[in-house]
Amino acid sequence: MSANKAKTHPIPITATKSAHVPDMDAYRQLVAEAEADYSGYWSRLAREFLSWKTPFTQGLDDSRAPFFTWFEDGTLNVSYNCLDRQVERGLGDKTAIIFEADDGQVTRIDYRELLARTCRMANVLKARGVKKGDRVVIYMSMSIEGVIAMQACARVGATHSVVFGGFSAQSLRDRIQDAGAVMVVTADEQVRGGKQLPLKAIVDEAIALGGCESVANVLVYRRTGGAVGWNASRDRWLHDEMQAQSPACEPEWVGAEHPLFVLYTSGSTGKPKGVQHSSGGYLLHAALTTLWTFDLRPDDVFWCTADIGWVTGHTYITYGPLALGATEVIFEGVPTYPDAGRFWKMIQDHRVSVFYTAPTAIRSLIKAAEADESVHPKRYDLSSLRILGSVGEPINPAAWEWFHQHVGGGHCPVVDTFWQTETGGHMITPLPGATPLVPGSCTLPFPGIAAAIVDETGNDVPNGQGGILVVKKPWPSMIRTIWGDPERFKSSYYPPELKGCYLAGDGAIRDAGTGYFTITGRIDDVLNVSGHRMGTMEIESALVSCTELVAEAAVVGRPDETTGEAICAFVVLKRTRPSGEEARQIADKLRHWVAREIGPIAKPKDIRFGDNLPKTRSGKIMRRLLRSVAKGETITQDTSTLENPAILEQLAQKN
Ligand code: WTA
Repeated sequence: MSANKAKTHPIPITATKSAHVPDMDAYRQLVAEAEADYSGYWSRLAREFLSWKTPFTQGLDDSRAPFFTWFEDGTLNVSYNCLDRQVERGLGDKTAIIFEADDGQVTRIDYRELLARTCRMANVLKARGVKKGDRVVIYMSMSIEGVIAMQACARVGATHSVVFGGFSAQSLRDRIQDAGAVMVVTADEQVRGGKQLPLKAIVDEAIALGGCESVANVLVYRRTGGAVGWNASRDRWLHDEMQAQSPACEPEWVGAEHPLFVLYTSGSTGKPKGVQHSSGGYLLHAALTTLWTFDLRPDDVFWCTADIGWVTGHTYITYGPLALGATEVIFEGVPTYPDAGRFWKMIQDHRVSVFYTAPTAIRSLIKAAEADESVHPKRYDLSSLRILGSVGEPINPAAWEWFHQHVGGGHCPVVDTFWQTETGGHMITPLPGATPLVPGSCTLPFPGIAAAIVDETGNDVPNGQGGILVVKKPWPSMIRTIWGDPERFKSSYYPPELKGCYLAGDGAIRDAGTGYFTITGRIDDVLNVSGHRMGTMEIESALVSCTELVAEAAVVGRPDETTGEAICAFVVLKRTRPSGEEARQIADKLRHWVAREIGPIAKPKDIRFGDNLPKTRSGKIMRRLLRSVAKGETITQDTSTLENPAILEQLAQKN
């Protein structure tokens, strides 16, 4: 089987003019440099790209594998590298962020002002007792203040943990508790799609659930002025606090391995894991990939549409672009408000030249444009665009072609970037100027990334044959550990049978001819719904915690045209199996329950009720069969090992 059936797109002439990695020879040269002296290659780049307070003397240290370190004896400050450095370089007046609010109002902030406000906020953190190494949870809307909060943590050496604003009070509480946060930074409300949604109220609810005794202060950014509950001993308005502070703050110089942030993500088990990242190695890859993958130039206007609650927002909003002194757009709202032409209008209005978004967004905007000509990208002037990027899930060739043709006018390279929360930055991606593109393939490893495909015993599989995606050598921006659980880090990412390779959790195949990678999807119990990563076990735990109704539940994914995957739950109730209107009502009740437990993004699309679940004689749920049922396939597999084969027919019926 050939992985790359789609046609190859030659490199557009506009991309090659003066790209940072200008051709395939330059790419190969970088790969060869990394192969010849791996630690030396990354050390050279770390010296070129980062400003160090104390220079490091060693690159990679693998003596405590798999707990690898990079540049360990060097010291630096991430916010200094993103802000002060730009002002010192004469970029103080350059626009750092163009913020567009949900209602279209635009606010610009230059590097000098961004630095001053970050310093004020850093001083607030210090005045409220936050010290180097403390954890601060940030539960914020998309805003300049959200970025400032992250940068201010970096400035004082606090480790931030941003929680996506769509997570429930319960999920927020679990994260605050696991991180042992001393402070929560939030907003009164967030505004999305014309609606005001509570944030502060959810923080209050999370803290009221108990277990958050470590939180001494809650800082509240006033976004809407909506009514909020107030606890005078704990809650502080951010603007009042900032006003009282000086706009100068000496950065806290930290070791390169100092944890910059912990970001919770889903794994195969019920409990989300706190992915811990470093300061030096992480920032290096954030800056380097932003520069090479997007071929960023000083006059570019970069727009990454991700939320700062996800890793893409961390690396390609808060850290990468600012470390390079770029101008970037930050958007508060949703792509379909006031209509599905919003993205195209914003690209036109802000003369965006590099646009980075998710396949789900593209697919839903294709649908909208096909239904209503007035929101088709051709109705807008998108001539400023130079490079397009895709992230978070596989992009199907049809969506790729539409993006390329109708958004990029046929002349902008589409970089399909494969990476993960754990990898910190791009791992496999085309470089505009160097890599001929094949829709549906993320092409070749970023120079220095030792991506490979192996079998279950860690041996290489030949090109053209699918297998397990691994990374054979540690890289600077890799996950350092799982917060508070080093054993889980080892077993999740470095299982002994893979002989020291990092296990990504995805399947992949390399094209027999070009060696290009195509990601074939997760090989564990992790789902990808609209680019949001979710564990099936988390959703199952949420369902069975509804003890009044649910006896047992199994969750699987099924392909969905728009969201990539959709969540499908099979539920055995404590009462007799409902049907018709009653089944629909109970399904709605359970959806609501899951939204409260985890967040609206985890709501199952399909809920099917059964008298039982398909199980082997030893009691194991046959998820493989459930996946087929969810897809609506007729079961051709052997079901003779099943305890109760008749159940499959029942589960195949929709409510
Ligand atoms: C999937 C998001 C195919 C993959 C940055 C991975 C992709 C998971 C791509 C990580 C891509 C991400 N092509 N699949 N270009 N990018 N994925 O941690 O399954 O939210 O393991 O990081 O998304 O999701 P995460």
